Amino acid sequence: MLRVAVLASGRGSNLRALLDAIRRGDLDACIVGVFRDTATAGARAPARDAGSAATHVDPKACATRLDFDRALFDRVDASGADLIVCAGFMRILSPEVVAPRVARMINIHPSLLPRYPGLHTHQRALDAGDREHGASVHVVIPALDAGPVIAQTRLAIEAGDTAETLAARLLPREHRLLVQVVRWCGERRLRFDAERVHFDERLLTGPLAVD
Ligand code: GRF
Repeated sequence: MLRVAVLASGRGSNLRALLDAIRRGDLDACIVGVFRDTATAGARAPARDAGSAATHVDPKACATRLDFDRALFDRVDASGADLIVCAGFMRILSPEVVAPRVARMINIHPSLLPRYPGLHTHQRALDAGDREHGASVHVVIPALDAGPVIAQTRLAIEAGDTAETLAARLLPREHRLLVQVVRWCGERRLRFDAERVHFDERLLTGPLAVD
């Protein structure tokens, strides 16, 4: 069974989606650790409901960014995770910790990458007059939100949409997208590195689509 570590800074709804899918029997995986860089409640509740404590690694207790990253990934490695999922993890990770784990670390990002890496993605899609928006799951590489895109979910932008309405319509799709990609990882259908993604042993020329 796929062993998954989740890194989360915020409310943890993507973590909860994974846990719910596991509980329903829709996802053959186990969450072996939840790792947070913030002391706020957020991802703590879903982790506790699933019977495991979320580990808090405090950036302020570490002298440098790299010290924090090493402390974090020492713990992640100790969990024995096969797959590391960044789900709303709001820190930029050092190349020293990302590079050795590229083939087993993914991130969910709320835009149709390569459009809108970084923050405020919903507002930026609206400001650009886009007719479509979405979310991506991509391989984590040292550059921010820049790794090969594995899969995307898309939705139409409607007249009157605001950043808030868009975010609210996108979130359940994000959850389905992340669960599907983790499922494919568990089924060993996905293989990736810093440059390319293979699905069923075929090189992907564009992201997989998830509704
Ligand atoms: C999601 O929109 C995700 O795409 C982004 O941060 C948000 C995290 O939400 N990276 P949650 O903490 O999983 O609820």
